[in-house]
Amino acid sequence: MSIQDNNRFQAIISHAKEYGFVFQSSEIYDGLSAVYDYGPYGSELKKNIRDYWWKSMTQMHDNIVGIDAAIFMHPTTWKASGHVDNFSDPMIDNKDSKKRYRVDHLIEAHADKLKEKGAEGEGQAAALLDAMDQLLAKEDFAGLKQLIDDNKIVCSVSETCNWTDIRQFNLMFSTEIGSVADDASTIYLRPETAQGIFVNFLNVQKTARMKIPFGIAQTGKAFRNEIVARQFIFRMREFEQMEMQFFIRPGTQKEWYEYWKETRLKWHLSLGIPAEKYRYHDHVKLAHYADAALDIEYEFPIGFKEVEGIHSRTDYDLGRHQQFSNKKLTYFDTEINQHYVPYVIETSIGLDRMFLLVLSHAYDEEDLTKEGGPKDSRVVLRIPPAIAPIKLAVLPLTKKDGLPEIARQIMDDCRPHFRCFYEEKDAIGRRYRRQDAIGTPFCITVDHQTKDDGTVTIRHRDSMLQERIHITEIRNKLAHEIN
Ligand code: GAP
Repeated sequence: MSIQDNNRFQAIISHAKEYGFVFQSSEIYDGLSAVYDYGPYGSELKKNIRDYWWKSMTQMHDNIVGIDAAIFMHPTTWKASGHVDNFSDPMIDNKDSKKRYRVDHLIEAHADKLKEKGAEGEGQAAALLDAMDQLLAKEDFAGLKQLIDDNKIVCSVSETCNWTDIRQFNLMFSTEIGSVADDASTIYLRPETAQGIFVNFLNVQKTARMKIPFGIAQTGKAFRNEIVARQFIFRMREFEQMEMQFFIRPGTQKEWYEYWKETRLKWHLSLGIPAEKYRYHDHVKLAHYADAALDIEYEFPIGFKEVEGIHSRTDYDLGRHQQFSNKKLTYFDTEINQHYVPYVIETSIGLDRMFLLVLSHAYDEEDLTKEGGPKDSRVVLRIPPAIAPIKLAVLPLTKKDGLPEIARQIMDDCRPHFRCFYEEKDAIGRRYRRQDAIGTPFCITVDHQTKDDGTVTIRHRDSMLQERIHITEIRNKLAHEIN
């Protein structure tokens, strides 16, 4: 990460805290690593992103319905899904600093340093990453250890190459249910929401009378004991996912994989985020359940990183739950007169990561200095209006002369339709800047002219342009701009 990008990332983190978007969890006790709380504007923004996803996946698709499954599930779920045996990352410890690294992250960080050395370094980095991908795909841990030794990759704390062997580390959190602490009562906090969908496949298919192809969508918390969790809300131990499992006829997975790959990218672009900030990344090492997988990556200030995964999960999950539960999980396809275990295409996006994406896209330090004038600047969050925490700020120019009463009437008229904010304290310029900083796309100012002709000023956050409109036009204009 360049110094400029690092500064921008740090500025976004500070801004998120200062303006009530994201706080460190349990901050008064010095925080809990990789766990975060969302403040007044953050929780509003998070909810709007979730709603935007939910509406596009369920309301806008005849053949997708939602569920809300419990976080705790029968422990056999995780045996069947493969998470007990396979949900682990290869880790390596430095014997001097005792610091633990995910092997791929350690090697990637070394590759990033090589890239900074110019063309020759770029070539070395590419060769290193290529070798890593091949060894990871074969799960050749001895080979990976050798790669680390051969490249003299050091620990960032001790700066030594004194490494342990590579070991697998399971990422699931476990806890106990009931009062008896034996093995039978050990349960897991779900590491993905997907399994709540799979175990409900037949319940949903039958009760909602769904015909294949159809999807089940869900949003909710997931928990992973991430080892490397340093990048703010990018990698958390408690986070939220928005997942959809799309059940299809076996043999049609390639076309549906392409369909969802494109459809999900379109969803991102529909927020007005530029296409050049996105790219696809095909997986080399496939998860234990997938026959094809890719990431939709976004260019965060910390580089291009995964925000969403599209996975062709075959009939792995339903097949395994059928085997472990001894319950039939087949579907009778009346069009071809056949019973089968459906195949699945999954779309899985992290809500917190999408939140960070929106902040990264929106954060702008704009220089407003006019030629010959004093230095002037503003911090503005150019959040897409559809998901902005506050859509409209209503600001009477002064606290007297009947202006607050008119402004309050506008509030009463608009607040049932979209989130509004009222403020009469401080000079109008300062109030505008505060709204810019939380991403409010529109401000209405009630002034003395309002009393004469019923018009107000509407100020646009991004251009800072102001226009006069009649009070009766506010609601329609806002509804149009927001949608
Ligand atoms: N059901 C499939 C699944 O969970 P994944 O690639 O492990 O796939 C899907 O996760 C998405 O969840 C990721 O693209 C990312 O946006 C989000 N995610 C995963 N781990 C996360 C973490 N530790 N913190 C925040 N978001 C995470």
